[in-house]
Amino acid sequence: MKVLLIGSGGREHALAWKLAQSPRLTKLYAAPGNPGIARHAEPVDLDPLHIEAIVAFARDENIGLVVVGPEQPLVAGLADRLREDGILVFGPSKAAAQLEGSKGFTKDLCRRAGIPTAAYARYTDLAAAQAGLTRFGLPVVIKADGLAAGKGVVIAETAGEAQAALADMFGGGFGGAGAEVVIEEYMTGEEASFFALADGTTAIPFGSAQDHKRVGEGDTGPNTGGMGAYSPAPVLTPTLEAQTMREIILPTVRAMAEAGMPYSGVLYAGLMLTAEGPKLIEYNARFGDPETQVLMPRFDGDLIDLMLAVAEGRLAEIPLPELAPRAALTVVMAARGYPGTPEKGGGIEGVDAAEAAGAIVFHAGTTLEDGRLIANGGRVLAVTGTGASVAEAQAAAYDAVDRIAFPTGFCRRDIGWREVAREAQGPNG
Ligand code: AMP
Ligand code: GLY
Repeated sequence: MKVLLIGSGGREHALAWKLAQSPRLTKLYAAPGNPGIARHAEPVDLDPLHIEAIVAFARDENIGLVVVGPEQPLVAGLADRLREDGILVFGPSKAAAQLEGSKGFTKDLCRRAGIPTAAYARYTDLAAAQAGLTRFGLPVVIKADGLAAGKGVVIAETAGEAQAALADMFGGGFGGAGAEVVIEEYMTGEEASFFALADGTTAIPFGSAQDHKRVGEGDTGPNTGGMGAYSPAPVLTPTLEAQTMREIILPTVRAMAEAGMPYSGVLYAGLMLTAEGPKLIEYNARFGDPETQVLMPRFDGDLIDLMLAVAEGRLAEIPLPELAPRAALTVVMAARGYPGTPEKGGGIEGVDAAEAAGAIVFHAGTTLEDGRLIANGGRVLAVTGTGASVAEAQAAAYDAVDRIAFPTGFCRRDIGWREVAREAQGPNG
């Protein structure tokens, strides 16, 4: 089967790496791909947002499955157009992708379906939002409604900060994403990511992870897309995972089907593990980046088979996919300046040596110039190690990182710290 993968980041490299292992694959294309993905796929020079061009390519090349990595093409309706032409696609429709594209939509759905999440109110004008603030304690969470690449969330410690955030969002500080604002109760607990696959009616679990969103060690400094991650997230115990399926994922999939927008694809739940149990922070309509770089190395099954079962609505008929008990941990090597303006053009050496040591080096923002690997984005590489424990996976990942010379880059040295400390304390610590 021919497969077309949409996207060009580290997440897509991890998907390409796994798709390429499937015996069913005859040819993998990637639009547009990157130099790492090109080891597994033929690059196609198409913009993921040029929907008609992608549909035409998929039709002309007789593509059996299109796998959509990032959220923007989903929110723009790529999956709908492919389905209209009878092309199988892994990824939700535009309507279903509202679970990621509109925070207000998701909060209303949670309220209707009784899904545990933070108390909230939606506002479309500044005066009403300012008045509404008094209903919430401090700190309070203020979110631009639409896609804002993780930057549309402010946790305000004081009423003054909250007012300033509202003024900024309604004043156009987040573009179209801030035409509507959601104010939320602040939840406390540890965060974990949970992945489920859904085919419109059936949903099944597909692993957990924890990521490090802050740029600095000890989880300090500005938010990023993610500086590293590990899987599994042992804080999400089997009991909590079952509770998450029962109270959050299954009611969501049911409510989406009832609303006439069946959800098909991966549903990535950002959870807060509160004293009252797991609560939903937000949904993403795609795999996480860099969480995919730790999920795929734990999946020994056939990803094409699994994604086809999702795309064809056959999840109820297949055995539950299993993730291996081993741990995986990925360290993001970013370009200096990230998450602000990253320095482009820095040379990278030693990727082969890192891989020879047993790690997997996923490309996130690289390009080739005269055969030389060059940094070409904020997050540049994701270096994944595996092991029997998170500590072992961490040691393997950093051993590989240390074999890579990327003088204009940096990485955090403490990815996985919380879990490694817990492991060191032992199961009864
Ligand atoms: P989001 O983009 O909705 O995932 O929010 C980004 C980050 O803000 C989350 O990963 C949390 O750390 C934090 N956050 C969002 N909503 C809340 C909330 N209601 N209570 C506490 N923290 C939150
Ligand atoms: N790592 C967070 C995300 O993919 O949204």
